[in-house]
Amino acid sequence: MIPSGILERLRCPECGRPVETADTGDGITCPVGHHHRQSNGYLDCSSPATSEGSTERTFASFGFEWNHFDDVRDEDEEFAEVYFRDLDLDDLEGKVGLDAGCGKGRYSRFLARHLGALVALDGSSAVEAAARNLSGNPAVLVVKSDLRAAPFAPESFDFIASLGVLHHLDDPRAGFEGLMGYLAPGGQVLVYLYSRPSSPGLRALALRVAAALRTVTVRLPHRVLKAFSAPIAIGLYLGVVLPGQYGERWRVDSLAGLPMAAYRGKPARSLVLDTFDRLSAPVEHRYVWTELAPWFDEAGLVVDAARDETGWFVLAHRP
Ligand SMILES: C[S@@+](CC[C@H](N)C(=O)[O-])C[C@H]1O[C@@H](n2cnc3c(N)ncnc32)[C@H](O)[C@@H]1O
Ligand SMILES: [Zn+2]
Repeated sequence: MIPSGILERLRCPECGRPVETADTGDGITCPVGHHHRQSNGYLDCSSPATSEGSTERTFASFGFEWNHFDDVRDEDEEFAEVYFRDLDLDDLEGKVGLDAGCGKGRYSRFLARHLGALVALDGSSAVEAAARNLSGNPAVLVVKSDLRAAPFAPESFDFIASLGVLHHLDDPRAGFEGLMGYLAPGGQVLVYLYSRPSSPGLRALALRVAAALRTVTVRLPHRVLKAFSAPIAIGLYLGVVLPGQYGERWRVDSLAGLPMAAYRGKPARSLVLDTFDRLSAPVEHRYVWTELAPWFDEAGLVVDAARDETGWFVLAHRP
């Protein structure tokens, strides 16, 4: 079933025409007869992956990641507090939202509690995990599609979230601009994008080490990398996260200033997932604010909040 309020926003991925629920009840059809199936909990609007650019490798990496780390965990709720801190959740009531690049659907699940209806979209087989995690929520539609060729009418959504996604595209800004075409006037957008320190220091050094490691790890078979991620994460947890945590508690500034503060008080398993994520995704871009601000200005958006907590959380609206 396509949730009410969403069908009229869908467009045929092949010809762009409005669609109807298929007579067979298993997806959508357009007036020309193009049919897109809804099965295993998601609507498949994907086209065969092109081998051009990084898309195929990116989808393979995240498809593996989210189907192997597929459970929504307690710490995801705690991370949600960080992600959605700037947003007035009461404002979302009754609105229609899009989570572009939903992964296993951990934040879609959170957002769905506050929105009237939600499309959780991902280009990879992560939609299988998202469909499992979002099943039983009649106001959510899981869609498999590249966000750069998404099956929606312009200005369809009152709220768009894209969390940890655009920095994995070959051209993140073009992806952002395309996505903003789906934002309705008065609508809000929340993005999370990797940041880069603007001055030298421990974090800059750590990122250089990670970049050097990535030249090898992005080429490893995913199973091998998953096996390596656990010991690396445990080393980081014991060597960086715990000393930082105790430094904060005992007010030892030199330790409290260590990086990876987001993992303090969280289970080590959250770092295993993120270690795999950082070392596996074939493409990553990182930004300082002066590079990002024009994205919003030139798309006609007003920035309501922008903070860097190991990544940029930017909340903006279209006047
Ligand atoms: C780091 S994950 C973030 C998932 C989720 N937002 C979260 O924070 O848990 C990035 C997700 O973006 C998806 N993605 C990357 N490029 C995409 C594209 N061009 N179209 C649709 N999804 C894409 C990946 O498949 C992956 O699931
Ligand atoms: Zn069509």
